[in-house]
Amino acid sequence: MRSHAILAVLAGAAIATPVPQGLDFAAVDAVQPKPEPTIPVFEAKAAQTTVSFVASQAASSVVSAVLADPTDTSLKMAKRADNSGCTVEPASGDTADAFLANPQYPAAANSAATPNGYSLAYQNKQASSQGVYGYMGYAVLDTYDVQLCSSKCDAVQGCSSFNIYFERDPVVDTTPTCTDPASETVIKCVYYGGPVSAASATNNGQHRRDFQVAIAGSNGYVSNAIETPDGYTGPVPLGNAAINAPLDCNGEDTYMGVKIFTEGAFDASLCAAACSAQSTHNLKNPPANGEAQTCQFFNTYVLYKNNKAVGQYCSLYSESWPASFATNNGQYRGDDHYTINYSYTFSNTTANADKPVGCTNPNSPQ
Ligand SMILES: *[C@@H]1O[C@H](CO)[C@@H](O)[C@H](O)[C@H]1NC(C)=O
Ligand SMILES: *[C@@H]1O[C@H](CO)[C@@H](O)[C@H](O)[C@H]1NC(C)=O
Repeated sequence: MRSHAILAVLAGAAIATPVPQGLDFAAVDAVQPKPEPTIPVFEAKAAQTTVSFVASQAASSVVSAVLADPTDTSLKMAKRADNSGCTVEPASGDTADAFLANPQYPAAANSAATPNGYSLAYQNKQASSQGVYGYMGYAVLDTYDVQLCSSKCDAVQGCSSFNIYFERDPVVDTTPTCTDPASETVIKCVYYGGPVSAASATNNGQHRRDFQVAIAGSNGYVSNAIETPDGYTGPVPLGNAAINAPLDCNGEDTYMGVKIFTEGAFDASLCAAACSAQSTHNLKNPPANGEAQTCQFFNTYVLYKNNKAVGQYCSLYSESWPASFATNNGQYRGDDHYTINYSYTFSNTTANADKPVGCTNPNSPQ
């Protein structure tokens, strides 16, 4: 009987310590899945683009616009007759297998120096990245120049990572009478507003009729810079985990909900804008008896569903929690695996003024 009573008490304790901010699947389900961007494999140079990103004060007014790159018109602008590339038979040996066996591509990928301010995410893959958060356009380069690709990324507002690779593209588009034209090697530099990772390097080409698009020497780099929004301290990096805060020492629930962004680039200032707006709203609408809860802290990260980015997740809190509370390493729902990457927290610089009284035990916010 006695042990039974202890069990009951433990069960009660478990209920009294909720984990209110596990992934909010209602919010996740409300997000429209983003289609994979199409990066052309034919006349790619003529179609080079950058996606512009403007982070505005209001999180709701983040705008993305696609700008055609007007500067580069040198290659294949005049559309050829469909069959012209097929008037010349592809040279013998012009095959995807030969492309994938060409030692020049691994040599270039393996000898490239990592640009200042970036970290190497993966090297010499025979696949480009897909499912990455925040596609921001691409350029076609004349040489496999990682430094140049990084400076192009730096010039695109919001770009924080890039993928550079060799691609076996058809010299003309395939048609029913031209199913396997000659190939050319195109060097692509693709920009993202969120992190590329080894897990994203899974696009190993496609078939266009009999022509096989293939990829080699694919390297991914992520910027080390994370901008801190005005009025905040941080970032505190949490890697692949999210904050999972219990009630604070006063028994207060500090979790204030979630915002998920799907447009533009990963940007902590979007969460900061949401956090401040939530405080403004709450202060204008205080509860009948008690103080309005204001947002003082947030955890932001890229949420992935089966390795494909869902969006930039922002969890808002009324008090700061240290990294030791980053215990959510992702969750399964059915067969779907939701994971967390690129996780950071930021605290209101003046938040200490709002620290609850008496929260000195290790189970409470700092
Ligand atoms: C998440 O991060 C881990 C380690 O930092 C990395 O190995 C993995 O590829 C990442 N996953 C995604 C989907 O970005
Ligand atoms: C930080 O908290 C203080 C006190 O609640 C508040 O006045 C201020 O607006 C907050 N700062 C930001 C950037 O939200």
